[in-house]
Amino acid sequence: MSLDVAVVGSCNLDLVVTVDAIPLVGQTVLGGDLAQIPGGKGANQAVATSRLGYSAAFIGRIGDDDNGKFLKQCLQEDDVDTSFLFETDDVPSGIALIAVQADGDNSIVVSPGANARLTPDDVENISFLDTATVVLTQSEIPIETVVATGRSTSGIFVWNPAPAPEEIVPLELLDVVDVLVPNQTELSLLAGTGPIDSVDKAISAAQTLPCASVVVTLGANGAVVIANNDVMHVPAPVVTPVDTTGAGDAFCAALAGGLSQGKDLIASVEEAVRVGAATTLVAGAQSSLPTPQQVTERLEGR
Ligand code: RIB
Repeated sequence: MSLDVAVVGSCNLDLVVTVDAIPLVGQTVLGGDLAQIPGGKGANQAVATSRLGYSAAFIGRIGDDDNGKFLKQCLQEDDVDTSFLFETDDVPSGIALIAVQADGDNSIVVSPGANARLTPDDVENISFLDTATVVLTQSEIPIETVVATGRSTSGIFVWNPAPAPEEIVPLELLDVVDVLVPNQTELSLLAGTGPIDSVDKAISAAQTLPCASVVVTLGANGAVVIANNDVMHVPAPVVTPVDTTGAGDAFCAALAGGLSQGKDLIASVEEAVRVGAATTLVAGAQSSLPTPQQVTERLEGR
């Protein structure tokens, strides 16, 4: 059976507290009640893909602990294939500590745990990388594993370099990427430029990279697509965000899902900005990921 999207990536338990404002260095603030929500950029992208109606598999690692069991169960309840969700017995499952402030912006600290143990060997012989129409990955797993994923992918390879990798990114990786999906910060690190604070700077930086296509996410300003010397800005619907956690993941899922159905890049990005915007209207990571009907309802304010 063919698979629309295989996601290779991270799986975390998100420990979320709402605050008026994210604390400064050395500051202690009091927040709301703790919420424990399934998350991790990889798992979020797999769940989002499935909720949007595409077939999805998740390849990653959890610890042999209660959090891991919970994260696996959440993926399965959303019809994500977990045949290649491996267990590591000597490290805990990934955890993310998230503070969400009143305007919906967040700050996240990730303790990768088992995610850091996903090796190139784990991914190299997985049949899904051969059979999936699109393979999607991020950077909460080791960069060597991202490279091995790209090398083993037969279909369209989409890399969302989030969070921005701290090590030098091998050129070989950028060469095999069909669609790169960075935000402005990630793009400036990959392209080695200063801060990217305008659409023009994003376009110039993206044009220096050897990837076939680049889609730069611009938050409330939508996204810009740079492909085959063509450039197009896709604006986002105007919304008042409650929580931006997971919006980038939902964007990537919608983009990968669209490409898996043979939609062109621009049409896929147009849908992705709607899905990303709709995700910001509900709190949490996986708890906020919408179905197509919820995208319409949330954007129409119903
Ligand atoms: O993109 C949001 C995700 O980033 C959270 O779910 C958290 O786990 C971190 O991986």
